[in-house]
Amino acid sequence: METLTTTAALRERVRAQRAQGKRIAFVPTMGNLHAGHLQLVRHAKTMAECVVVSIFVNPMQFGPNEDFASYPRTRDADKAVLQDEAADLLFMPDVQEIYAGGDVGRVTRVEVPGFEGDLCGQFRPGFFTGIATVVTGLFNRVQPDCAVFGEKDYQQLVMIKRMVRDLCMPIEVHGVATMREADGLAMSSRNGYLDTAQRARAVRLYQVLCEVKAGLEAGRRYVDVLEQQAMGHLAAAGFNPDYVSIREQDSLKVPNPQATQLIVLAAARLGTTRLIDNVKISIA
Ligand code: PAF
Repeated sequence: METLTTTAALRERVRAQRAQGKRIAFVPTMGNLHAGHLQLVRHAKTMAECVVVSIFVNPMQFGPNEDFASYPRTRDADKAVLQDEAADLLFMPDVQEIYAGGDVGRVTRVEVPGFEGDLCGQFRPGFFTGIATVVTGLFNRVQPDCAVFGEKDYQQLVMIKRMVRDLCMPIEVHGVATMREADGLAMSSRNGYLDTAQRARAVRLYQVLCEVKAGLEAGRRYVDVLEQQAMGHLAAAGFNPDYVSIREQDSLKVPNPQATQLIVLAAARLGTTRLIDNVKISIA
């Protein structure tokens, strides 16, 4: 695996792979890789002969009071696991390389309508625009045939699919199911912030979402009631919930009564750590 830090070097290596007739799959990450990320790399390997992984902690998607400075940066360990997974190219640019001159505040932004102000967008202003902007820049650098994202960040996945469609980017976007710890907690780099007591309680987030799923599957259709009950259960378990919301799976719209493919999404804080998760629901 070769590690590249400049767009010029990356483009040259990708061009050489293409010249050999290889398809290019891309896995964008912010590093601190865990088994969930490795699952994305493995999926990418089934899609293409050349897998490019990027590690870039994107300042544009962090709010002023969020954890950009403390976000775990584990470059050497990340490189070692990607080497083991036999990724082909690792792109590790710095901020200057991604945002011309390093001036994050003055670069062109990409905003996908409907995401700022809804669900996570309501609690993290600028978050989705930061993601859409950096992913567009990364896509333009790598020019992959396909890109792989985790379903844990479900709103991100839906937004990227929409962006690719709206801007006619010639890239297939694949979602990969969330990897969970043995107790059910969704794997996340931010789980490392939890202390022992918080870690023991954290699984309740997944359990509460599964309870909502069970309620819907049992025929309970009062979405608002289910959401409010779930918020109450999270609060009782020591969380400070931002939202629990039942939506249509593909569009993330508030469900109409006929919808059968649903998803329940939640974000909740344990202490200062904000966790997100979601569970898909299929009702007859
Ligand atoms: O999911 C992530 O890790 C990030 O949001 C992404 C897609 C790498 C963009 O910074």
